[in-house]
Amino acid sequence: DRSVKIAPSILSADFANFGAEIRAIEAQGADWVHVDVMDGHFVPNLTFGPPAVKAFRPHVKTFMDVHLMIAPVDTYIEAYAEAGADLISAHVEAGPHIHRTLQAIRAQGVKAGVVLNPGTPAEAIAEVLDLVDLVLVMTVNPGFGGQKFIRSGVEKTRKIRQMIGDRDVHIQIDGGVTPETAPLVVAAGADVLVAGSAVFKGGSVDKPEIYGANIRAI
Ligand code: DX5
Ligand code: ZN
Repeated sequence: DRSVKIAPSILSADFANFGAEIRAIEAQGADWVHVDVMDGHFVPNLTFGPPAVKAFRPHVKTFMDVHLMIAPVDTYIEAYAEAGADLISAHVEAGPHIHRTLQAIRAQGVKAGVVLNPGTPAEAIAEVLDLVDLVLVMTVNPGFGGQKFIRSGVEKTRKIRQMIGDRDVHIQIDGGVTPETAPLVVAAGADVLVAGSAVFKGGSVDKPEIYGANIRAI
């Protein structure tokens, strides 16, 4: 279903070759580029600081979606906006004031996303739906690529699509998205799918057509 956007997560790319990896996935049909920022505290893994994201920026011709898995988060919003994020998403679980966090993201002039971990109910975002461009439903516990899809995210997605009503808000799914799980979340109302291992599996910058085939298979 091509009205559904695919956002490959560069967490599964070759870490010695980000520029070429980003150009390859875009040439092969990626709609967005998903950047997973981890702080070794909110999640048990460490990835990209603002200078790394700034270095990715000139290679991204589509849309750079920056998923912040950091706590506290407010301190870093400006730096990631200045690094060139088109959209910044923050977890409801990352701090006590998600409403303030989302206002701070919007104040930077970038799009705002709110993220729910698998253990957090849909109701946790009921009061911030007017502040967001995107709701990200995690279908794995954040921290690593290549984990198994958690099914309760499908019903949660259906619920959130109803809560969104006629607002212009994307539902993004992140974690364990494959050709098998993607149709479940799309039927429930998701329209942006993050995929790491399912896109990069078997391919490389020298075999980019595999990325293309993987993207089309989702
Ligand atoms: C998990 C990250 C995801 C992850 C997805 O913390 O937010 O974006 O890289 O990887 P796959 O698609 O392999 O589950
Ligand atoms: Zn992510």
